[in-house]
This record gives sequence, structure tokens and C-alpha cells, in this order.
Amino acid sequence: MTYRVIQWAPGVVAREAVAGVVGHPDLELTGAWVHSADKDGRDVGELCGLDPLGVLATRDKDALLATDADCVCFTVGRNWVEDPTESFEDLLRILRSGKNVVNLWWPTLVYPRALAGDFYKDLEKACLEGGTSFCTVGMDPGYGTAGLALSALTLVREVSSVHMYQVMNNAHWEGPGITKFFGFGQRDSAASPILRPGVTTNYHATTLHLLADAIGTEIEEIVEDHSVIYADEAFEIASGSIPAGTISGVRYRVKGMVGGQARVVVEHVERLREEDFPELEFRGDGYRAEVTGLPSIRLDMTVSAPPDYTGDPVAVASAMSVVNAIPRVCAAPPGVLSLLDLPPFPSKNSGTRN
Ligand SMILES: NC(=O)c1ccc[n+]([C@@H]2O[C@H](COP(=O)([O-])OP(=O)(O)OC[C@H]3O[C@@H](n4cnc5c(N)ncnc54)[C@H](OP(=O)(O)O)[C@@H]3O)[C@@H](O)[C@H]2O)c1
Repeated sequence: MTYRVIQWAPGVVAREAVAGVVGHPDLELTGAWVHSADKDGRDVGELCGLDPLGVLATRDKDALLATDADCVCFTVGRNWVEDPTESFEDLLRILRSGKNVVNLWWPTLVYPRALAGDFYKDLEKACLEGGTSFCTVGMDPGYGTAGLALSALTLVREVSSVHMYQVMNNAHWEGPGITKFFGFGQRDSAASPILRPGVTTNYHATTLHLLADAIGTEIEEIVEDHSVIYADEAFEIASGSIPAGTISGVRYRVKGMVGGQARVVVEHVERLREEDFPELEFRGDGYRAEVTGLPSIRLDMTVSAPPDYTGDPVAVASAMSVVNAIPRVCAAPPGVLSLLDLPPFPSKNSGTRN
């Protein structure tokens, strides 16, 4: 069966999603919604830096939702720190219109049932009205943390704790965005938006609850902590200079506490030099799931691309975590899904590179 897909808001990651849809034997790209007026009417392939695809982007939501597409790949961009509800109404409308949704936007929707407020109830209602399914994947939150941990837990008899890591080298990012976000190059970690109290909890709480439900426990309290390292000497990164004595690496943890113990933990290690945080013994960019129990299991997953690939391999992985899920999500009964509900969804593309 071929599933018809609308790409909603093609941006940096969606470039990889569009290439993924085009290369997937069970998927067909039939439309795209764009946010900016200057993208209206342009070929989606051209917008994504690919060959023309003969599919024109539009800003007309009604026209797109009136088509017979099966699924929307929802990749609207957002600022991690601001209120994320802006595009929620669009999401509900798409689900009510009879289109399934695979989602990357607002990654905390990886487990909506754990969100405070009416988000889960509203999504479930929209799915039932439209006869549709909704699932958020991504890398973190998403497959890199929760998915990897669920895989390790499959082999375990007794679980004391689950510790999930993201380890990234951020030195290649151009522009000030990531540098400012983590506070790299600053003297005081109070300048780092991600380290403001509550921000990391906001971002990772649903991942913790997903894992807690998976192992049959209930989190009593979420506790966050962080540490930073300082540059011993000045060095250059793509976005500028890191002066000596300023922040050159950030490590933060968000811990789901049960009976005073950290039973489920998400940890981020954001560095600028491969040699920093040597105690982790983690080379490259990737994810680690560490289950302590019987047996204890550690899974390390590094993400890289062939040397001739100019894109970001983590963006490819993020995009494919939703694109490859489309057939499963379309075939599922109506409702809100998570990684706990979906069988594996491997790639079927044998190698056409876009
Ligand atoms: N879970 C994960 O691991 C993971 C990993 C990567 C990304 N993500 C998420 O995936 C999403 C896409 O990331 P990205 O890097 O591709 O984002 P991006 O390039 O910054 O933006 C994606 C699209 O969003 C559109 N957009 C911007 N503001 C909008 C608004 N107010 N309303 C509607 N559309 C708007 C942009 O359109 P214009 O350019 O026309 O304004 C662009 O087409 C983000 O929400 C990000 O948080 C998740």
C-alpha cells in the first residue's frame, strides 16, 4: 500500500523528511504547507535543496486538508524556551480532518498522556473525531533516548534504574543560536537559557514518564541538576571564539525520583571538543541507554553519515524517526500513540540518495 503524505512546514529537518518520503517505497509526497509567503507556490523539492518534485507548496491549509492524503508529517519549528501551544490548534485541525500525523514539533509530545493540562484529552478527541492516529518521535525526546532504553529493557529481568544520555558536539553549528542557548563562551551559567530552573524538566519530563510507565513505576518528584566546564585556553568554533575561562561544555540531568532514588534519568552532555568529558568514554555524537539491573545493559548508538553527505546525520535520523513510522501510524487504530505502542518501523529504502 502507498500512503500519501503532506509535509507541514519544510525547514532544516524537514528537508531530510522530504528526501525520506521520496525515497520510501510505501510513501508518496502529495503536498506541503509553508509558513512564509515567499515559499508559496514553489516546488517542494527546490525549497528543500533537492531536485524538483512536481509538488507545489501552499499556504492554503483548507485546500491541503481537503485532499485525500493519508498523513501529515508535522515539522513546524519552534523556540525550545517559549510557550509551545501556538501550532497546537493546527495539529488538532489536521487530525479532525481525517489525516494521521507523525510529529516532530514540540518534542515533549513524545508522551502526551503525561502532560499537564488538556493536551492529551484534546489530541485524543481530535483523533477519534477524524478516525486518525497521532505519534511524536524524534531523537531526544524520541528514539535516541526512550527508544534505545526500551530496546535495552527488553532483555532485563530486574530494573533498578534507567539512565538515558544524549552526547553532542556543537562546535560545527553556524550562527549564534546553539551557542547562546547553552551559554557557551559565557562566564556565568545563569546566562544559559537551557539551565534556567524548570526548562530541562519541561523538555524531558514526558520522556521520564514514558520510561516510568514502561517499567511499571510512578515518578514522585522530578529533580534537575547541571554542571559546566570552562575552556582552559581560547579556541574557535564555527560560530566564533570561545575565550579562555568561559563555558565550553554543559552537562545536565533530569531525574525521575521514586522513593528517594533516581529511577529514570535523562542526561545531556553538550560539548565543543571531542576530548571533553573523557570520563564518559563516548566518541562522536549519539545516545546511550544504561539500564542497571539484572542483567545491567549499556547500549551506545553513534550517528554519523558517509563522508560525501553534506547534511547533518542527526537531522536525518530525527526526520526518519517520523517518516519511517508513517505506515505504522496510518495502520494503527485511531488515538494518541507513543513509542510504547508502535512495533519497529525499519527503513525500506535500499539506497537512493537525495
Ligand atoms: N525530537 C527531536 O529530536 C527533534 C530533533 C530536531 C528537531 N525537532 C523539532 O522539529 C521541528 C523542526 O525543526 P527544524 O530545525 O527543521 O525547524 P526550522 O527549520 O527552524 O523550522 C521548520 C519550519 O517551521 C516554520 N515555522 C517557523 N515559525 C512558524 C510558525 N510560527 N508557525 C508555523 N510554522 C513556522 C518554518 O517556516 P518559515 O521558514 O517559512 O518561517 C520552517 O518551515 C522543531 O519543532 C524542532 O524542535 C525535534
